[in-house]
Amino acid sequence: MAGLIPQAFIDDLIGKADIVEIIGSRVPLKKAGREYRACCPFHNEKTPSFWVSPVKQFYHCFGCGAHGTALGFLMNFDRLPFPEAVEELASRLGVEVPREETPGAAPLRTVDEDLYTLMGKAANFYREQLARDERARGYAARRGLDAQVIERFGIGYAPDAWNEVLKRFGASDASRQKLSDTGLIIAREKGDGWYDRFRDRLMFPIRDARGRVIAFGGRVLDQGEPKYLNSPETALFHKGRELYGLYEARQDRAPLRRLIIVEGYMDVVRLHQSGITHAVATLGTATTPEHLKRAFRVVSEVIFCFDGDRAGRAAAWRALQNALPEATAGRELKFLFLPEGEDPDTLVGKEGRAGFEARYADALPLSEYLVAHLAESIDIRHADGKARFVAEARPLLERMPAGPYRELLLERLAQAIGVSAERFLTIVGPVNAAADPRSSGSTRSAARPPARTAHSAGRGGLVRQAVQTLLHFPALATRIDDGDIAALDSLDEPGIEVLRELLAQLREHPAASTAQVLERWREHPLGERLAKLAMSESNTPDAEAATQELVNALRRLAQGAAMSELDALIEKEQRSGLEPAERERLRTLLRESRDPAR
Ligand code: CTP
Ligand code: MN
Repeated sequence: MAGLIPQAFIDDLIGKADIVEIIGSRVPLKKAGREYRACCPFHNEKTPSFWVSPVKQFYHCFGCGAHGTALGFLMNFDRLPFPEAVEELASRLGVEVPREETPGAAPLRTVDEDLYTLMGKAANFYREQLARDERARGYAARRGLDAQVIERFGIGYAPDAWNEVLKRFGASDASRQKLSDTGLIIAREKGDGWYDRFRDRLMFPIRDARGRVIAFGGRVLDQGEPKYLNSPETALFHKGRELYGLYEARQDRAPLRRLIIVEGYMDVVRLHQSGITHAVATLGTATTPEHLKRAFRVVSEVIFCFDGDRAGRAAAWRALQNALPEATAGRELKFLFLPEGEDPDTLVGKEGRAGFEARYADALPLSEYLVAHLAESIDIRHADGKARFVAEARPLLERMPAGPYRELLLERLAQAIGVSAERFLTIVGPVNAAADPRSSGSTRSAARPPARTAHSAGRGGLVRQAVQTLLHFPALATRIDDGDIAALDSLDEPGIEVLRELLAQLREHPAASTAQVLERWREHPLGERLAKLAMSESNTPDAEAATQELVNALRRLAQGAAMSELDALIEKEQRSGLEPAERERLRTLLRESRDPAR
């Protein structure tokens, strides 16, 4: 895992980025007063209700409620996970993303940029070779690949020779070492030289989320062993994490709602060619929870697709087991089995896109597949069969995070053996929950505002108004007197914690735009609430007026607090008398209440 991205860098990035330019390069924007507007790219509409504010560096849609910063937009529109969205924004601005280590995190491994460059060059070389080699082109044509899809996937050909890559890219000791680090060449056993890993194979480049080539899969032309040869695990490539075709699937502008995970390179490429551009593949391995994490960052529905043969069914069961930790509410997981002897490549060749997609209707939801699989091998008509069914279900349930998804599955299992959910629970005994997958493995920066008590930022008109003004004009925080800030300390209004936190943060680290503030609060439990507040239109024309408004709100808050303190002291005096310090305080408060301007 890469190191964490320092918050200060994100701050800086948001400060430098121009949201109008970022969104404008993807959605046609029209200037409207101080803002820009367009038809919302996140829902269907005919009249524009999508607004982009250059001042706030924030977008929002009145129609569907979509909103966020430049980073948020890249995440939603380009469907990038957070770290990749940061990379994208940084590379547009021509800056390098720094990484920091956190104690206890995996040691930071920096990848030598040259390795990416080398892989890119090798991919180009293979592509050129395919264009030149008649036999390889003939094979690609026999497999039904058209020129467009070859181009889109960057498919190439590794020539039938031992050292073409070595010769071209490994002139020095240092460059040979790098080639070997990418897995493109292999050291001879006797230690007397090197040779190309991929020879006489159709080459499928495997790309990361940013489209950089990180590995290859190579298929022999026609017959030969092994049929497929893949790059080894390298600094760039971790087989258990990558989904072949995900980068290409994201390039399609149509909204990506689901992914279908198939088994092979050829399946992905041929499905894309037929218009099924939501197809991805694991790389000759079982689907890992890591794969699913990736997939569910992008879509909420995943269909596993397996051949109908025995190997396919075994792979499906393995996939189910690995999917359980990721099975949570709001996610759909389905299993599609193809007829024996067919794979997606051959089927889509026969049935075309419509025929293939019509099969999705037959896909089994995870719960149904699980029950069907258990019931298949166990006779559940008798008590001992039921007991075995429960015994086999138990470890599966334990792989799932506790929550509604697991509850429903439990009910479904109970129903399958004809007992109530309560009865099922007594038979199965206490089921331990797996850790929530969403709470681990995050690469987000740890530099977050500390979580305070979860008071609402919305209640309390004055608090709300002050927070809103600060969000619209974050630079004001530095113009507030210390006295006005200190007066907030004794307050106990709903949301006051957020206001205090926001003020303290903005005085220590001033921010220039709304977007910068929101990015700092991205993972705070109240971040989303702040974003909603930021969305509302400000009726304050300029920073001068806003300062006045903010100061007034803070003072009225403080006065309100002083009044209640005053009331309490007067009441106590009448009831039981005051301590000397309390009497002193009462005097001060009375004086101030007569002279509210201070
Ligand atoms: N695979 C692999 N190594 C192998 C065999 C297979 O990595 N020796 C992976 C590849 O990703 C391959 C997938 O498993 O695409 C499925 O393999 P298989 O079903 O054997 O091949 P197909 O995809 O059907 O390939 P083709 O249609 O080219 O025969
Ligand atoms: Mn095949």
